Amino acid sequence: MEKLKIGRISLDGIAMMAPLAGVTDSPMRRTVKKMGASLVFTEMVSATGLLKSPGEARSFHYHLLSAHPEERPLAVQLFGAEPELMARAARLLAETDADMINVNMGCPVPKVVRRGEGVALMKDPERVRLMLAEMRKAIAGVPLTVKLRSGFAPELINAPEICRIAEGEGADAVIVHGRSGKQGYAGRADRAVIRDCVKAVKIPVIANGDLKTPADVASVMSETGCAGAMIARGALGNPWIFRAIKNPGAPRPDMRERKEMILWHFSMIDQVYDQYDAGACMRKFLVWYSKGIPGGIELRRELSGIKNKAAALEAVDKFFSHEESHPAGQGDGGLREGILI
Ligand SMILES: Cc1cc2nc3c(=O)[nH]c(=O)nc-3n(C[C@H](O)[C@H](O)[C@H](O)COP(=O)(O)O)c2cc1C
Repeated sequence: MEKLKIGRISLDGIAMMAPLAGVTDSPMRRTVKKMGASLVFTEMVSATGLLKSPGEARSFHYHLLSAHPEERPLAVQLFGAEPELMARAARLLAETDADMINVNMGCPVPKVVRRGEGVALMKDPERVRLMLAEMRKAIAGVPLTVKLRSGFAPELINAPEICRIAEGEGADAVIVHGRSGKQGYAGRADRAVIRDCVKAVKIPVIANGDLKTPADVASVMSETGCAGAMIARGALGNPWIFRAIKNPGAPRPDMRERKEMILWHFSMIDQVYDQYDAGACMRKFLVWYSKGIPGGIELRRELSGIKNKAAALEAVDKFFSHEESHPAGQGDGGLREGILI
């Protein structure tokens, strides 16, 4: 099995789950972890918000920040523009839930960029240097990583330079999303820039962007020489992608396994959210879980009627009982929109 070491943390695989705002809460992280993700991240957490009102931020982010033992090690992602605040927030988290601190240098949302945070940091390498130096001092020994893009815009591609700065200030790994900030989430991720980052530093470079199948992961690793891969949208409704990456011979999920996974995931949602938030959360995940499976389109049509957890669980039951009553020739055994996972 391929391994990856980031600072003092040894991971038992090269594929990790990306931070996704509104998605990678504790239940989601546990599902991908169970299927073989080697590392999970919280969504981006504001350093300013955390420090201004730690109690409030913690309760807002409760399921985002607090980890179940099955999720360990947990990387907490911080965003902010002020080196001193980022360092203090990192220390606070490292003393509580975080096993690794990750710095967001990729968020392209205008509200974030206007404040000089997220991908805007890539336009200010000196600030990056200062920030990482302060953070490194504040959390000595705790793995520190950076998630960046190819650059702020197509005409400002500087990921290799930012990677060198990160390495120079003691970061333990960099995750490079091969799209620029201006590109957002559309268009192809550029593998050439990831290769340039690999050449620029000795710390592990993790590739991100457009990795939707085990074959994508294998090809990005051989084309760029990167040390690991981070899966984002490719894992939505498809936690099994991590099993397939780890073990290409692993079985594809059949309908029974899909149902069991959904029910387990939903039972965790039920434990951590109140019943209305739980219903909304289940509905969101059902959209993804139902993609590319027989009857999925019909199920998605009914989702608007789901207002609470009881309705969500009923929809799952109805959907799978229909499947069980049509066992032969109905399931695709895990074929997702033409992609074998
Ligand atoms: C809904 C959504 C939320 C995201 N939230 C975060 C976040 O909180 N922090 C972060 O670094 N990246 C975030 N990203 C970016 C992903 O982590 C990843 O870099 C990006 O989706 C590219 O990978 P992909 O092409 O495999 O989806 C988000 C992306 C999406 C689609």
